[in-house]
Amino acid sequence: MRITMIGTGYVGLVTGTCFAEFGHHVTCVDKDQEKIDKLLAGQIPIYEPGLDHLVEKNCKEGRLNFTTEITQAVGGAEAVFLAVGTPSSRRGDGYADLTYIYEATREIAKELQGYTVIVDKSTVPVGTADQVARIIKEVNPDADFDVASNPEFLREGAAINDFMRPDRVVIGVESVRAEEVLREIYKPLFLRETPIVRTDIKTAELTKYAANAFLATKISFINEIALLCDSIGANVIDLAKGIGMDGRIGSKFLHPGPGYGGSCFPKDTLALMRIAQEHGQSLRVVEATVEVNSAQKAMMVKKIRDALKGSEAGKTIAVLGLTFKPETDDMRDSPAITILPALMEKGATVRAHDPQGIHEAKRILPGGLYYAKDAYDACQDADCVVLMTEWNQYRALDLDKIRSNMRGNVFVDLRNVYDPEQVTKKGFTYTGVGRS
Ligand code: UDX
Repeated sequence: MRITMIGTGYVGLVTGTCFAEFGHHVTCVDKDQEKIDKLLAGQIPIYEPGLDHLVEKNCKEGRLNFTTEITQAVGGAEAVFLAVGTPSSRRGDGYADLTYIYEATREIAKELQGYTVIVDKSTVPVGTADQVARIIKEVNPDADFDVASNPEFLREGAAINDFMRPDRVVIGVESVRAEEVLREIYKPLFLRETPIVRTDIKTAELTKYAANAFLATKISFINEIALLCDSIGANVIDLAKGIGMDGRIGSKFLHPGPGYGGSCFPKDTLALMRIAQEHGQSLRVVEATVEVNSAQKAMMVKKIRDALKGSEAGKTIAVLGLTFKPETDDMRDSPAITILPALMEKGATVRAHDPQGIHEAKRILPGGLYYAKDAYDACQDADCVVLMTEWNQYRALDLDKIRSNMRGNVFVDLRNVYDPEQVTKKGFTYTGVGRS
């Protein structure tokens, strides 16, 4: 199959590369000349384990190409995927900004040759596919096309595996022809018996938002229960096991922490609330999920303050992990963006380390914090160490070395990575989330 991927951001690059790995001929298009030049030179603009190898291999084997030229890329393609960004609108009202989707649609409309399926891969509000179809008809009344929705459920840091072994593939199609094209594209997965959910376009669009909102809700639920465990003196880890083993609940996404972040949950929960409002409805559970997530970040600041016996002023705090989760360099909506400035405003000095995120952190976080070369350097003369993101390299720290580097002995584990007893034995006072 000949496939064109519009947008070489996270989703476009991973999806395009994996389609090439399936054996399709894929051209990835992006307006950003610098990005395309780098990709052609084998440099990957994001940190995603395994992606560099797959890009290199598929380029070498001639199935994957990168260009800024939409004209050559679209004409003759059997499917054109729209994987451009849909950020929250700059107005700050939670609506998704669809400018890039509509711009890309206008450009591809002119270039269509022969029957083409235009597939929305980006997370877009319900009804966007109708708008895409309307624009194509307006720009190119003779175009022979169908629009489809095929939301992605990739997690950053695990995207290749998620793509190659998905729990399901959702396709929203309203013609047999379009369904056949999508089934052909995903054939290697269906041969492995990956379930397919074939539905109408609107349902597919809404499925993505509902999935993300549900997962975010699970996290906010366990975060609230964790705070209750703190008040009661109960243990949220055992509690999560106790409820998670009920197959109706499931054990995943029940890890309490400093609040969810990233490019999807914060943006998509807000967008879903707006979609509901436009239909005269309010999604109260999702609203509560969003509120709880904001409150959780504030509670983490209080937790650190309490661990420091009531004040962070004049204290040095070592922060381990800045990205919203491990195995990514992504800082978008990371809890660190709220928590660090709050600590610094109260007069704390912050020494931070992250294995991949420092470049982004320097762009986003306020000046005046020290970026350490490793975890031990971060802990130098610190009163308190805060484990913020559970990178593997923080899971087996030499606690004796950390303790001897530090001035104080406060250990705040916002991801419940360490065994409280072992940390206490090393001379620290330990604070976790829902297990203190
Ligand atoms: C998510 C969805 O998982 C994916 O299906 C969708 O396509 C995009 O959004 P991603 O944002 O990459 O993927 O990360 P994910 O691993 O889902 O984690 C999101 C956030 O939730 C992180 O901040 C993480 O730390 C937090 N989280 C996750 C918890 O706090 N507790 C958990 O139990 C799980």
